[in-house]
Amino acid sequence: MTATLIDGKAIAAALRAELAARVAGHVAQGYRKPGLAVVLVGNDPASEVYVASKAKQTKEIGMLSIEHRLPAETTEAALLALVARLNADPGVDGILVQLPLPGHIDADKIIEAIAPAKDVDGFHPVNVGRLSTGGKAFVPCTPRGSLKLIKSVRQDLSGLHAVVVGRSNIVGKPMLQLLLAENCTVTVAHSRTQDLPMVCRSADILVAAVGRPKLIDSRYVKPGAIVIDVGINRVTDKATGKSRLVGDADFDGVKEIAGALTPVPGGVGPMTIACLLENTLDGYEIRLKQGGGGGARFDPVTEWICTSGNIQP
Ligand code: GUN
Repeated sequence: MTATLIDGKAIAAALRAELAARVAGHVAQGYRKPGLAVVLVGNDPASEVYVASKAKQTKEIGMLSIEHRLPAETTEAALLALVARLNADPGVDGILVQLPLPGHIDADKIIEAIAPAKDVDGFHPVNVGRLSTGGKAFVPCTPRGSLKLIKSVRQDLSGLHAVVVGRSNIVGKPMLQLLLAENCTVTVAHSRTQDLPMVCRSADILVAAVGRPKLIDSRYVKPGAIVIDVGINRVTDKATGKSRLVGDADFDGVKEIAGALTPVPGGVGPMTIACLLENTLDGYEIRLKQGGGGGARFDPVTEWICTSGNIQP
């Protein structure tokens, strides 16, 4: 059996086209463009590549890309001051502070300073909490994109057993919440899980997010399962000396067993930025409905709380 290939590149392109049409519709009605602010501290080469790619795709769909590049020695206080400015800026709908941050800056403190209504990464404890209680929340981009890929091959996930390998705050934990909300039975496996192959083999949906090249081989996969490979690992080929990207799944082995499989590259990766843009546009549209879209003043924290309907300003 050869698995259906889930083409994340094409699905992400279709999503971006949909978002571009939504943006164009708002702009045609005379509203301002949605704005995404991305903050990069220092010059980590991988982060530079991500940030450039985010900026390019933001502009391509007609949104405003606001980039802040700060030197590595930027103080925590200066970064907090910038976040406060972006929180208060009515032209900014989403704020992303690229991680990792230099060691002298407390990343949790920075994330908690971002207004939940502009936290398009979905990392703020308010959004994390609301996702877990079924409230209105920004969902972290990689799990949001991964769920879309799963649903591209199967709409109704109710009753299926999903196994998420990896328990990170960015992927594993929010993925668990999303699959639970789809009525899956969810197991989260991790580095201390006993008999990982056996646990994975019981999965109808297997999400691998551990950052270990080719960990998931054919012995880990139930025939016909949907396998989502979140891993992006750079490895050097011993024979040629060339480096290339591989996932957490052994693609060639797994494709013979799985029902559907995402490739690396071209699977989950392209969905992450597309979902970042979707989160930003969702935030903008909430703001528009509340009358803040034209640049009116609004409180970025209470505004979002008001939309949940159960907490009064
Ligand atoms: N660094 C690598 N991926 C991400 C991401 O999704 N968000 C942020 N803020 N930083 C990252």
